[in-house]
Amino acid sequence: PTFLKVKANKLANPFFIGMAVKANQLTAGSKYDVILKNEFSSISAEYEMKMDQISTASGVYNWTVADKIVAYGNGNGINVHGHALVWHNSVPTWLANYTGTDAAFALEVKKYITDVVTHYKGKVKSWDVVNEAVEDDGTMRNTIFLKRMGANYVNDCFKWARAAAVAAGDTQLLLFYNDYATSDNTSKQNKMYTIIDDLVASKILDGVGFQMHNTIFAPSKAQIESDINRAVAKGLKIHISELDMQVNPGNAPANLTATFTNELRLAQKDKYKEIVKIYNALPAANKYALTVWGMKDNESWIPFSTDLNHPGNDWPLLYDANFALKSAHTGFLQGL
Ligand code: XIL
Repeated sequence: PTFLKVKANKLANPFFIGMAVKANQLTAGSKYDVILKNEFSSISAEYEMKMDQISTASGVYNWTVADKIVAYGNGNGINVHGHALVWHNSVPTWLANYTGTDAAFALEVKKYITDVVTHYKGKVKSWDVVNEAVEDDGTMRNTIFLKRMGANYVNDCFKWARAAAVAAGDTQLLLFYNDYATSDNTSKQNKMYTIIDDLVASKILDGVGFQMHNTIFAPSKAQIESDINRAVAKGLKIHISELDMQVNPGNAPANLTATFTNELRLAQKDKYKEIVKIYNALPAANKYALTVWGMKDNESWIPFSTDLNHPGNDWPLLYDANFALKSAHTGFLQGL
């Protein structure tokens, strides 16, 4: 078969094909490892480089697992994207329970960002600095960071990340703002772009990560294009950062199918092809990576997400549980 990254590398304007990984999947010689090296040119840690994994107490770090992921990328010529420095869903207990002043809280966040960016200087090529700062209703998400650090916290985090990189001699590090479900939610999208405009004005943003936890029904091609094009127009790099494609979405289990029918299989193939084509058509300067959020259907976060409420009944990725290629993979290849 043709491998994704082989085809992508032959494009006039190539870009990385990314995969979300967990450290325990990276055993040399395993089926997973062989596919990863053949098909993918970038990795993101699915959760093991988040704050609650790395930071065990103030100024105390557990680098072991994250280092393993970074070393795998660096040792195999695979780009490493850092995900994510600041996210409301990965606040370590010690920080969530922090009793110091707001100013001291901000210094803890600054120290964390500085230490992590410094530890991985030259090894991690890009970071999601802040993940999901906007609520679905188009307001700022009311996180501990907003409450403790104020409305300017996103800007502060990017300033600290940039300063740490520069101080460490890394002038190439790319800083991304990452969020989900902006394409078919206008108020959320508009709010995200006010944050982005602010970061652009401060010259501390390189790109935008669009998670794209999509379904075969939404968002539409036009919605995705107009969302992404707003960032393109600002000269920013685009990362499709967490792509997967539900075929069985919704919160009403009674309506959900228990089988992956041929109709769904083909709809998913077309929808993968559509988004890859959208990405591929971007100007060279705006391309970075298109990252898929997991390899095999049975290891996807989607069937287990409590938000989505239908355990087991979805098949959102490019490989099935036995590492067999799905039509989704053919669709992906056809988009390149
Ligand atoms: C998810 C991972 O897939 C899970 O393994 C983990 O337990 C929780 O986080 N948006 C993000 C990702 O930015 O970090 C999330 O990943 C999925 C939603």
